[in-house]
Amino acid sequence: MARSDFVDDFLKGFSCVIITGASSGIGRAILSRLEQSATTAAVFNLSRTAPEGVANSLKFSHLTCDLSQPHEIEKVVGRLRELMPREGRMLLINNSGFGGYGEFPAPGLEHTLKMVDVNMRAVVHLTGLLWPDLKARGGQVATVASLAAYQPTPLMTTYAATKAFALHWSIALDAEARPHGVRCVAICPGPVSTNFSKAAGFTGSTGLSGQTSEACVDEALRAMAHTRPQVITGWKNKLLGGFSARLPKPWAAAIGLRMIQRLRLNRFVKKA
Ligand SMILES: NC(=O)c1ccc[n+]([C@@H]2O[C@H](COP(=O)([O-])OP(=O)(O)OC[C@H]3O[C@@H](n4cnc5c(N)ncnc54)[C@H](OP(=O)(O)O)[C@@H]3O)[C@@H](O)[C@H]2O)c1
Repeated sequence: MARSDFVDDFLKGFSCVIITGASSGIGRAILSRLEQSATTAAVFNLSRTAPEGVANSLKFSHLTCDLSQPHEIEKVVGRLRELMPREGRMLLINNSGFGGYGEFPAPGLEHTLKMVDVNMRAVVHLTGLLWPDLKARGGQVATVASLAAYQPTPLMTTYAATKAFALHWSIALDAEARPHGVRCVAICPGPVSTNFSKAAGFTGSTGLSGQTSEACVDEALRAMAHTRPQVITGWKNKLLGGFSARLPKPWAAAIGLRMIQRLRLNRFVKKA
């Protein structure tokens, strides 16, 4: 079976797809892949801004939600319950997230705490509220972590730690949820050209060569179709992740600090 047919068949197996952060980057690329598939699922996006130019062929709804606000998550799940089909398998994709660069707590304590809320708290909150539905109907929870999840990463200290949380949480949940017909997949991209660097406090692209969102999503969806508990996208990233995960953690942090300092990312940091 061709690779794209395999992913199309996987996507056809859900009556409801809920994604966070499809307004840009990796999330928008997932939405584009859904547009190209023959899915008949009801597709919901949760983010602060609506994705642009969504194909009319998709049964699509945007629900505005700031995931850093627990009361907005509760409200949006109530709305989802009114709108989503009552039967059939569900796919939840926890994709929303952002980073921050610089010596702790740069780019600011408020930014850092919001990152903790969106990258970790919101993932647990949203999945937890939808868990009874997922267990009753079966399905999959895909969570976008990062290559940064595999080692402590100085100068991206909090971001990498939030993604280590997402990776471990997702893999452990997969083991626990399997008997209930729910599988979990942690997606770990390396650098991908999106709005990520701007949201992390850089003036624009940092020039780090990386995958396109389409290439990243292509690999991620194949891993989701195979229900692999974790996937690092990009072969260079796979090697890097495999290597750094085997190092003693303090060594990985010291080597990581040197490597990041060499990139002289400070050149791209927005001036306050
Ligand atoms: N790009 C990379 O190099 C890279 C590498 C590894 C992992 N990742 C991860 O990939 C995921 C997607 O990032 P991306 O690269 O596609 O970056 P992006 O283009 O900046 O997209 C981030 C998405 O997250 C949403 N988001 C941010 N804050 C939110 C909030 N408070 N409430 C709801 N949604 C929020 C944004 O939507 P709104 O602004 O409309 O709310 C946007 O759709 C993130 O979890 C990121 O950590 C990215």
